[in-house]
Amino acid sequence: MREIVLSRADSSSAGEMSAIAASSDFCAKWSASDFESEASNKFARIYAAFYGGEMAGFAAFRFCREDAELTNFAVRGRYRRSGIGSMLLAKGIESALSEGVKNITLEVSEKNSAAIALYEKFKFKTVSVRKKFYNNSDDALLMLREI
Ligand SMILES: CC(C)(COP(=O)(O)OP(=O)(O)OC[C@H]1O[C@@H](n2cnc3c(N)ncnc32)[C@H](O)[C@@H]1OP(=O)(O)O)[C@@H](O)C(=O)NCCC(=O)NCCS
Repeated sequence: MREIVLSRADSSSAGEMSAIAASSDFCAKWSASDFESEASNKFARIYAAFYGGEMAGFAAFRFCREDAELTNFAVRGRYRRSGIGSMLLAKGIESALSEGVKNITLEVSEKNSAAIALYEKFKFKTVSVRKKFYNNSDDALLMLREI
């Protein structure tokens, strides 16, 4: 059984991350060039999980002093429910801790029960609701984890 390997993603992984985003509901549909420019932003921390050389998922954060935000996050469909999302989130939280971050926020659709369950497992709490945020229809939950 091969292991999942986590590493910091750079612009060379932009195409793979964009393909995973394109095939995932709910996440931000960044193009390869969006990922490329994000990867070179000094505030960005993007982590990717690999299984036998194939990218299985990514989690993109922005860190700015005491605040961090999860800006994009997806696991390739066939790898879901095997702990990879948890590994990526844990990696981001661990890095945030080591860089002195105190608060991590994220925004998630009220309809995204899989992601909400994962965030609640990681002690994120809903701190506000943005009404009809997505396509003037679904609410967005703003979630916060204090570390
Ligand atoms: C959200 C997402 C990243 C989770 O990744 P994952 O690798 O499947 O997550 P994990 O396997 O680490 O799951 C950890 C826990 O989250 C919860 N969870 C994950 N998927 C779930 C589902 N479909 N239904 C209910 N709970 C779920 C469970 O509590 C799970 O623990 P368990 O498997 O022991 O019950 C993945 O579903 C995904 O890519 N979704 C589409 C994109 C997306 O929603 N991104 C987030 C935007 S805010």
